[in-house]
Amino acid sequence: MSFPASRTSEARLSSEATRPGTAGKAAPHAERIESLISAMTLEEKAGQLTIMPAALAPAPANAANPAAVPGSIEEQAQAVREGRLGAVFNGDSADWHRRMQTVAVEESRLGIPLLLAADVIHGFRTIFPVPLAEAAAFDADLARRTARAAAEEATATGIAWNFAPMVDISRDARWGRGVEGGGEDVLLGCTLAVARVEGFQGDKGLTDAGAMLATPKHLAGYGAGTGGLDYNSVDVSERTLREIHFPPFQAAFEAGALSTMAAFNDVAGVPAHANAWLMKDVLRSEWGFEGFVVSDYTGDFELIAHGLAEDERDAARLAFQGGVDMSMSSNLYAEHLPDLVRSGVIAEADVDVAVRRVLTLKAQLGLFDDPYGRLSPERVEANDQPRYRDLAREAGRKSIVMLKNDGGVLPLRRDQKIALIGPFAEGRDHLNGPWVLFGDPAYAVPVDEGFRAAMDDPANLTVVRGSEAEASLEGGIEAAVEAARGADVVVMVVGEGERMSGEAQSRIDICIPEPQRDLIAAVTAVGKPVVLVLKCGRALVLDETAKQAQALVVGWFLGVETGNALADVLFGAHEPSGRLPISFPRHTGQSPFHYDRKVTGRPPLSLEHGEEFKARYRETLNVAEWPFGHGLTYGDPVYEGLDVGDGTLAWDGELEVSATITNRGARAAEELAQLYIHDRAASVTRPIRQLKGFQRVRLEAGQSARVRFTLTRRDLMFVGRELSWTVEPGRFTVWIGPNAESGLEGTFELLAGDAASA
Ligand code: BGC
Repeated sequence: MSFPASRTSEARLSSEATRPGTAGKAAPHAERIESLISAMTLEEKAGQLTIMPAALAPAPANAANPAAVPGSIEEQAQAVREGRLGAVFNGDSADWHRRMQTVAVEESRLGIPLLLAADVIHGFRTIFPVPLAEAAAFDADLARRTARAAAEEATATGIAWNFAPMVDISRDARWGRGVEGGGEDVLLGCTLAVARVEGFQGDKGLTDAGAMLATPKHLAGYGAGTGGLDYNSVDVSERTLREIHFPPFQAAFEAGALSTMAAFNDVAGVPAHANAWLMKDVLRSEWGFEGFVVSDYTGDFELIAHGLAEDERDAARLAFQGGVDMSMSSNLYAEHLPDLVRSGVIAEADVDVAVRRVLTLKAQLGLFDDPYGRLSPERVEANDQPRYRDLAREAGRKSIVMLKNDGGVLPLRRDQKIALIGPFAEGRDHLNGPWVLFGDPAYAVPVDEGFRAAMDDPANLTVVRGSEAEASLEGGIEAAVEAARGADVVVMVVGEGERMSGEAQSRIDICIPEPQRDLIAAVTAVGKPVVLVLKCGRALVLDETAKQAQALVVGWFLGVETGNALADVLFGAHEPSGRLPISFPRHTGQSPFHYDRKVTGRPPLSLEHGEEFKARYRETLNVAEWPFGHGLTYGDPVYEGLDVGDGTLAWDGELEVSATITNRGARAAEELAQLYIHDRAASVTRPIRQLKGFQRVRLEAGQSARVRFTLTRRDLMFVGRELSWTVEPGRFTVWIGPNAESGLEGTFELLAGDAASA
């Protein structure tokens, strides 16, 4: 049984109407594919199962991974010419792509087109907010539109295959790659996975020049590395895999994604790259996945370091037999598959299956019909500049989360004297965030520029860096203090540099670096109202001084329109509307921390009691500093009048749960109403709460609206003792509220029915 889709419209997991029409597109090519396979040498087959980094790549692409040996440009062209290489990724430009495609199509024996791939994680030329930031918008339509825009730009350089979206659920803020995903929640993760797949692939079919094959990654459990350490061992139960980590993949495949990438980690002792249970039993037999599996960067080779493979040949064997169709960056398939077949270790028919999958995708992407179709001169020309600034600005402001706003210090007045302080107050570094391989930081709007454009008199802005991200600046604190003294209000842009999250950027302490903490302490001591804007790619823990700031805003990495998007919200032209897609814990030591944790047998009874023998730390209760779903507006939304009907949900019925939200504030509010449930007695332990729906409502000052959610038994399903999805009659708690730790509370009962139809 697949993951049960929620019925709320915004949380829709997939839609027939928007699903790209991929099925059958390769059918006219089936004969050609079969005749190619029968004409191919073993070396050519292995070549189709090999992808290498481009020999000519933009500098950031070279820095994104350990050094590879793709060979010289001519050597790589020769590999393509000889059929030893069927795919290349992160290539430099349209010109380079055209050149390589020409070699493949016109100079190789069989003329099989190249599959050109890239990591287009949050924009191509137009850099959008990092995916985690965009998740804060809780807006599938927005995610779909930014993915579509990224695909339009990327495909214009010939790229037909994207190594995104990352759909790993991330619940440990120490792990740096959470920045690439949709946060900690399964429903939000599924919603965004679908939206991003739909956006990358488009709705005109994969042959369309703007379509870019999506790769939900990394299968599976990559976000659950022990200790939040990237690449570390993952030892979660099958129930947790099925309930937490698998659903976004299933949702992405249901939305039409036809490739996936193996995770670097082992899963309960078996590395994903050699895990036939994962890649065959679950992915193919259970889920019916028909696309192909690519290794992660040298992930097959790493089976040696994992201690599974004796040597490179053995690693190639294990990965191939484990269900990895294509080898990335190691060249191990090209080097060893032919011999593994010749010596009878691997059946040629099995290699043919993998080759058929890859060629089928090439056909589905239109590459056999028109290998240069994405590279029309008009598309290439239009691609010079970031094309989607308005969308980037919209996405930027919708990603911003206001955590705190004491005394209404925000919105800022346009006629105030403002001291803008911090390592990210000016300059174009640290705006785009990690995983930007093709965007130019020169296009990004710095924070101070955005401020000046929004102020009545730009001369009222004083800008002082005060410190670097991780090092102090000589005289920086003194200059910052002086600027603060002369200002009406201080805005500090502090937190993480853009290289502090992302791949291999695990942290042991998710704090603001010390030089910046010193800066914050000195500046707040001046006594002026302080707004802290946090740059980060993960949850941060703030010290007491930082928490005392009058206003706190999560500003993430917002991309090319950073300065303008921040100014839009901070000066009040737009309401803050983002909500945390991850919990901000009180202390790093709570990690992994997520709102839908288990109750335990000894939950603390209240926040007030210093109770003994309860699931609490000596120093703090195990609750969030700022919970999942939290985010303030410039209005004052108040929740009242929860209605759960007669409190019963018939087995085949529906239950409407509703509440009224009234904006008691003086300004409009963009409120995100959230519905959570808790199963009070089940055959396996259940989380404290689980998000089952969310709805956005805009309320003018004084306005009320009734939000209505409809629950069915599908919303109450979980992975039971038999490790399959099930639902059990009984009592549930339900909340409608503004975040995962508050809201109006009620109860209802799921009445017994025919269990067989669950
Ligand atoms: C990452 C992948 C990425 C690949 C290619 C790896 O290090 O884990 O997500 O797609 O590199 O750049």
